[in-house]
Amino acid sequence: METLRGLSLDSKLPRLEFQMLWQHVLQVPRVWLIAHDGDPIAPEKLARFRELEARRLNGEPMAYIIGVREFMGRDFLVSPAVLIPRPETELLVETGLRHLQGRMAPRVLDLGTGTGAIAISIALDRPDARVLASDSSAQALDVAQQNAQTLGAAVEFFHGNWYDALPDVGAFDLIVSNPPYIAASDPHLRQGDLRFEPPSALTDNGDGLAALRAIAQGAGHWLASQGGLFMEHGWDQAAAVRGIMESSGFSRVASLPDLAGIERVTGGIYN
Ligand SMILES: C[S@@+](CC[C@H](N)C(=O)[O-])C[C@H]1O[C@@H](n2cnc3c(N)ncnc32)[C@H](O)[C@@H]1O
Repeated sequence: METLRGLSLDSKLPRLEFQMLWQHVLQVPRVWLIAHDGDPIAPEKLARFRELEARRLNGEPMAYIIGVREFMGRDFLVSPAVLIPRPETELLVETGLRHLQGRMAPRVLDLGTGTGAIAISIALDRPDARVLASDSSAQALDVAQQNAQTLGAAVEFFHGNWYDALPDVGAFDLIVSNPPYIAASDPHLRQGDLRFEPPSALTDNGDGLAALRAIAQGAGHWLASQGGLFMEHGWDQAAAVRGIMESSGFSRVASLPDLAGIERVTGGIYN
């Protein structure tokens, strides 16, 4: 019978991915795999592993295969209906939370919530906040609802196009969004992990700025005085997004660098 030790020797997967798939198949922690690497593997478990290994070798993102991705230290359920949360989006959450400092019982809106990663992270960090989130994908909202329930976050979800999805709830202290910002012509859409993610989460089917523009232009109606809008965008879009925000009536417009020094979040204050 096969053992993990034997299988690891001829697997084409990197060691970490091999272990992640076996953890998922056997539903055990990593330390168990190490302690039991000489145990015989049941044939049905090996067949399941081979199926998942083939998907990974075909390029499918690990998060879709095992159905989970960590964000801000918490596990979020993911499915092919949602964008896989990215580490760089943590900058947007941290920036939003900083804007909320000193504001009691703030109102927060996350546009294009996907897994709910941003809205849920803010709601868990600020239990006094009222957090609303919207998405145009009903399937994505199902995933977000499940995540909110599992993680114990109070987030109200709405289905529809950006602000059109919202009931008349009054003004927000903070609007955050990581909208689709890849231009339709960008060849990266047909490469790597992006091939497996929902196109509606990645591209605006235009120049890459259409969703950023729609959100910035619509924000004034929804923001309280001194409310802030912060949006994630592509590595080369910071100057364009600053221009969009300034012409949409925002002041103190600034872009923030991620850990690699790339400006990935731009925001401003509405008077
Ligand atoms: C880049 S993903 C971000 C997902 C999540 N907020 C995150 O950061 O991981 C963009 C999200 O915007 C949603 N979306 C795209 N167009 C939309 C629209 N017109 N109105 C509302 N949501 C939209 C997509 O369904 C997708 O979930």
